[in-house]
Amino acid sequence: WGEEGHAITCKIAQARLTDAAADAVKQLLPAYANNDLSSVCTWADRVKFALRWTSALHYADTPPKLCNFQYARDCKDLNGVKDRCVVGAINNYTTQLLDYGKDTQHNLTQALLFLAHYMGDVHQPLHTGFTTDKGGNTIDVHWYTRKQNLHHVWDANIIETAEERFYDNNIEEYFKDIQKNITKTWSDEVADWEACSSDETTCPNVYASEGVKDACQYAYKDAPEDATLEDDYFLSRLPIISLRLAQGGVRLAATLNRIFG
Ligand code: ADE
Ligand code: ZN
Ligand code: ZN
Repeated sequence: WGEEGHAITCKIAQARLTDAAADAVKQLLPAYANNDLSSVCTWADRVKFALRWTSALHYADTPPKLCNFQYARDCKDLNGVKDRCVVGAINNYTTQLLDYGKDTQHNLTQALLFLAHYMGDVHQPLHTGFTTDKGGNTIDVHWYTRKQNLHHVWDANIIETAEERFYDNNIEEYFKDIQKNITKTWSDEVADWEACSSDETTCPNVYASEGVKDACQYAYKDAPEDATLEDDYFLSRLPIISLRLAQGGVRLAATLNRIFG
């Protein structure tokens, strides 16, 4: 996601924290964040270039057309180093944070900022796209009249267009609308989003598997190279994005609540 998608994910999450988790997050956030997780949710993007090894941790691409995610096959960087993908990163930073309150050599502030960011990214369907087109980055399309690539349409353009058209250019209004849907439209599903099997603290394999299915069914569908994407595409995909932002926020909170519970 871009700035807005991450901010919404983190706002949803922070509002759902238990007292224990809210307290730990408050202790771990850097002072300049003013206890606002959403203000540092894109920190991981800003350090991508200085910390080059982290750039593979934002996504987990899969072979084209299979539409499934397999950890052993797909979670590696371009050099084939295993566990270097968004799913491995979520597991790793979750494990690091479980040492909160103990002696640890890890920087748990960084671990929190990475986890909050990657939990958002794993819910962007094209962050579990195809290796062959780098999750849509090499597919050039038109977003209405402007040149774009398909990945960026999903990271930012759909969300920005929604804010312009439906939310008075106010990200807070879009956030509130998603919040309302979590308590009304999706209230029966939220417990399923939060749950992991057995004793897992987080279950990013599940999130990535859903993501690659959405990539096939909604992101790549009717969006080949040179396509012009406009109202039909925008209006039918926006509900998917709203749902993925909601799930990302709910699951970030659920993971942090289990870590610090
Ligand atoms: N680079 C390669 N694949 C990518 C993806 N799916 N998302 C973002 N950056 C990428
Ligand atoms: Zn992206
Ligand atoms: Zn990212």
